[in-house]
Amino acid sequence: MLQSTLDKDRVHRLHVAVIMDGNGRWAQARGLPRTAGHREGAKAVRSVVEAAPDLGIGTLTLYAFSADNWQRPQPEVRVLMELFERFLHSERDKCIENGVLLNIIGRRDRFEPRLLRAIRRAEAATAAGRTLHLRIAVDYSARQALMDAARLYQSTEAQNADSYSELLNRAINSRPAAPDVDLLIRTSGEQRLSDFLLWECAYAELIFTDCLWPDINGQELERAVEEFHRRERRFGRVVEARELAS
Ligand code: FPP
Repeated sequence: MLQSTLDKDRVHRLHVAVIMDGNGRWAQARGLPRTAGHREGAKAVRSVVEAAPDLGIGTLTLYAFSADNWQRPQPEVRVLMELFERFLHSERDKCIENGVLLNIIGRRDRFEPRLLRAIRRAEAATAAGRTLHLRIAVDYSARQALMDAARLYQSTEAQNADSYSELLNRAINSRPAAPDVDLLIRTSGEQRLSDFLLWECAYAELIFTDCLWPDINGQELERAVEEFHRRERRFGRVVEARELAS
């Protein structure tokens, strides 16, 4: 009973998605290899995950590796995969302690068996988490997900946007299914979506910050959430003067 109440509560809290960009430039500005930026970026991940629940965030989706990122130099890809695996091991107990449900979204058929095992273990160990659904997108492509979900959709009976969303969640291994994105943040000054959550961001508020990802922390996240609350969300409707005055 309590469990399901909390679950509902999480769904009614914010879904914030972040395109973590700028690790390479952060490192280059310091004369360091790009991989140093990724290592520092992993620290920033910990910082925002810790801050998220107190900011009313129930689902946090972080874009860590796109399907197109496989085209980066092999040594960089290797370091990133190692960082993901290490993160899954090192954060598992903290996630359990803090009620964080850890979930990797995206394809799974191109990972090394070791990484796949670490993903499955971390997801199973944190499955009871109710404070925060932390989704880390690895080998993720929104277009691929949309095509996969479309294939599943053909054989469903209830054909509407909600049932399609369910299938899309299933196609990317989101367990549990996540609600639509409320706020999408992209760091490093770039202003594009880069094949990330294209369906789920239909009515998302977008915030672009010049801050490079490794410089992001809980305070920066708080600033973005505050700006989000100042926005007027209309979902295509007209806001009555009465509502504006209240
Ligand atoms: C984009 O910046 C960032 C990535 C492709 C990797 C993101 C990885 C992390 C934040 C660290 C590891 C994450 C976890 C979850 C442990 P970029 O390299 O494209 O930066 P640039 O645009 O400045 O070159």
